[in-house]
Amino acid sequence: MSGPRIVLVGPMGVGKSTVGAMLAERLGCSYRDTDDDIVTAQGRTIADIFVDEGEESFRAIEKAAVATALAEHEGVLALGGGSILDADTRALLDGQPVVFLSMDVEEAVKRTGLNVARPLLAVNPRKQWRELMEARRHLYTEVARVVVATDGRTPDEVAAAVLDAL
Ligand code: S3P
Repeated sequence: MSGPRIVLVGPMGVGKSTVGAMLAERLGCSYRDTDDDIVTAQGRTIADIFVDEGEESFRAIEKAAVATALAEHEGVLALGGGSILDADTRALLDGQPVVFLSMDVEEAVKRTGLNVARPLLAVNPRKQWRELMEARRHLYTEVARVVVATDGRTPDEVAAAVLDAL
């Protein structure tokens, strides 16, 4: 079992799905996203899981989904933005070809600020983004083999930068 060729981590809205699909196409392999796995397995949206059961329950579902995908998938794999909050998940990422797609807070507000489908940003997007980045940036960096900044770059440029960096 050879494992994923690329694992994308980073905050929601940074472009993991778009860039991940492009990378898979360029590498001639398949793309998988743990958020999609969860929605398919649960038959409901991520937002509904948060509302129905709360974040803690979602994180347990996510932890299992990430472990399964890491064990099964041999193409490009994107992880949900909060998956790295779990220490066991971070340990599983040790030695994997992990790429942290980063963006600064203003870029994040611009890209996702009005997206009500994302339950973690519902109240005050700028403040919540600032807190979220402060809490997570070091965790993304800790698990990453390389960091690729996405600010001011098109998905095509980001995909090219990822291939250059690996
Ligand atoms: C989350 C990111 C989302 C999704 C959920 C929670 C987070 O995934 O898993 O809304 O905690 O950052 P994406 O990063 O794929 O948007």
